Amino acid sequence: MVEIAQESLVATAMYFTNVKSHQEEAAANWKQTFIDVDKELNYQYKRLMDACTTAQLESKLWLVDEVEKLDIPLKQVGLLGGWYANYIVQLLVDRLAVKKVHNFEMDRDAKNISYKFNKRFKERGIYQCYVKNIMFSNFEPNLYDCFINTSCEHMYPMHGFHKLNENTINNPLFVLQSTDERYYDDHINPVWDAEELAEQGKIKKVLYRGTRRLNSGMNRFMVIGYKR
Ligand SMILES: C[S@@+](CC[C@H](N)C(=O)[O-])C[C@H]1O[C@@H](n2cnc3c(N)ncnc32)[C@H](O)[C@@H]1O
Repeated sequence: MVEIAQESLVATAMYFTNVKSHQEEAAANWKQTFIDVDKELNYQYKRLMDACTTAQLESKLWLVDEVEKLDIPLKQVGLLGGWYANYIVQLLVDRLAVKKVHNFEMDRDAKNISYKFNKRFKERGIYQCYVKNIMFSNFEPNLYDCFINTSCEHMYPMHGFHKLNENTINNPLFVLQSTDERYYDDHINPVWDAEELAEQGKIKKVLYRGTRRLNSGMNRFMVIGYKR
C-alpha cells in the first residue's frame, strides 16, 4: 500500500480540478507514478511528495494565469530544470495550447519520473525530457519561443545560460521564478526580490513582475519578459 502525505493528497485533488484534457489517462499516470516510485525509486519518494504540494501547484497556476493574460501564442516551450514536470506540462497544454514541451533537466531520476507523470504526453510526442546541465551546454538555435525556469534558486544566475546561448537563440519569452528562502541547502542562488530576478535573468523588456506569499509561507517571485 503506497502512503501519500496528506498535503500531497490535497494538492493532487486540487490539481485534478484543473485537468481539462486526457483526464482518465492523467489519473492513471499519476496513480502509477506513486506506485512505481514507491517500488523502484523509493529514495525519491520524499522528493516526490515535495513536488506534489499545494504551494508547488499555486506557483504553477500563477505562472499560467499571468502568461495567459499576455495572450502571446506559444508553440514550443523549453523547461529549464523542470524537475518532475508534474503540474506544468498539463497546464501548458490545456491553458496555453502549447504543442511541445521539452524539459532540460540534469537529474536522470527526475527525467524518468517526469515520463511517468506525463506518459500520455510523451506517447503523443508532446513531452520530451533531455538530461542536460543547462549551464554547460547550449541549445538548438531558435527552436523555442519560450523558456520557463521555475528553479532559478537552484542554479547559477541565468546570465550564464544567456552567455552560452547568445549567438544561437532568437528572442524567446522568459518566465523565471525564484525565492528569497535561504533555509534549504540546495537554494544556492536565492534573490531578494523580483527586481533582482529580472536583473540576474537580463530581462530588459519586463511584461510582468510580481511577488506571492505561497501557502507554504515562502515568498515566490516571478518575472516574465524578453531580453530585448
Ligand atoms: C527542486 S527542483 C525544482 C523546484 C522549483 N521550485 C520548482 O517549482 O520547479 C530543482 C531542479 O533543478 C534541476 N537543476 C538544477 N540546476 C540545473 C542545471 N544547471 N541544469 C539542469 N537542471 C538543473 C535539479 O536537478 C532539480 O530537479
